[in-house]
Formats: sequence, C-alpha cells, structure tokens
Amino acid sequence: MSVLEIIKKRRSIRKFKPDPISEEVIDKLIEAIIWAPSAGNKQMRKFFFVFNKKIKKEIALTSLYQMFIEEAPLVIVACGDKGIERYYGKRGLENYLFCDVAASIQNLLLVAQEEGLGSCWVGAFDEEEIKKILNLSENLIPVAIIPVGYPQKIPSPPPRKDKNSLIEVIK
Ligand SMILES: Cc1cc2nc3c(=O)[nH]c(=O)nc-3n(C[C@H](O)[C@H](O)[C@H](O)COP(=O)(O)O)c2cc1C
Repeated sequence: MSVLEIIKKRRSIRKFKPDPISEEVIDKLIEAIIWAPSAGNKQMRKFFFVFNKKIKKEIALTSLYQMFIEEAPLVIVACGDKGIERYYGKRGLENYLFCDVAASIQNLLLVAQEEGLGSCWVGAFDEEEIKKILNLSENLIPVAIIPVGYPQKIPSPPPRKDKNSLIEVIK
C-alpha cells in the first residue's frame, strides 16, 4: 500500500479488541516515533508506553472520561521536553516542542495503520493530572495520549474540507 493510501485509510479508532500487540510490532511503532523530524534534530520529546490496567484507567478518567482509552492494550503518552528552550528560547517552547511531538505522533499513527492497528490522537485531558499519574519530571509537558490496539469498529471517514478552501496557490 502506498503512503497516501495508508494516510487515507487511517481512522480514529475508539473501540478496541483486547488482543495484545507483539513486541515486534511495538518495536516498529518505536522506530516510527524515533525517525520523525525534529527542530535541529534535538529530539526533545519522550513517549511513555503504558500497559498497566490501573494506570490506563486513571488516564481515561482524567481524559474527560473517554473510557475507550482504558480498553486499548497499549496507551502512549507523548510528551515534549521544555529543555528545548535552551536551544531555541520562546520559539522552541511555544512552537517546536509541539511540532516535534506531533511529527512523531503522526508517524506512529501511520505505522500503526500499516500494521493493522487502530489508534486515536487524544488531546482532551488534564495535563496536571497526567503529570501526577505518570510522576513526570518537571521538564516534560504531556501533549497527547494515543490508545493503540486492534480495531473492533472502524468508523466511516469524516468529511474533509475541499482543496480550494484549504490550499491557496501563489504563483
Ligand atoms: C490535536 C487533536 C486532539 C484530538 N483530541 C481528541 C480527543 O480528545 N478525543 C477523541 O476521541 N478524538 C480526538 N481527536 C481525533 C479527531 O477527532 C479526529 O482526528 C478527527 O475527527 C478526524 O477523524 P479521523 O482521525 O478518523 O480522520 C483529536 C485529534 C487531534 C489532532
């Protein structure tokens, strides 16, 4: 399948089978995260792979009770490292930090799709609570939570804006 086909096939999955994910596939997800671009290749990001049932439940509860998070065999918490400020100041903190994490997340979603896994980018959660649950060091900002597992239900594609409203060509 071409990359574009994988991009178009990927859906946000909110219902998962309990089937575990093999170590081999998890390694591929990790590679996808690692090989994303980052500002100045500083790679100021960190990802927590949570398999623990109790912690997954706590994460779901603090994510506006989005309990489908708890159902996924793997829940990834994607964080940016405030240490990026050392290199790029305010621009690093306010922009590059989030872009670096987002690039890894999108890579991860696409490789998950290629492996037949479903995932969902979750942004609605209480940042301070996530820091407490995972006992994060002060330098880390949780940016997104990504439940990953084999999909039980694949929704139909939500509509996209047409290219004329999204793209402006300047010649
Ligand atoms: C920054 C961001 C935050 C999101 N937060 C949530 C969320 O909290 N809960 C959820 O179910 N989906 C969340 N989504 C997923 C979107 O709802 C989804 O990507 C969008 O509706 C398009 O559907 P698709 O991913 O199937 O193409 C989020 C996506 C992004 C990029």
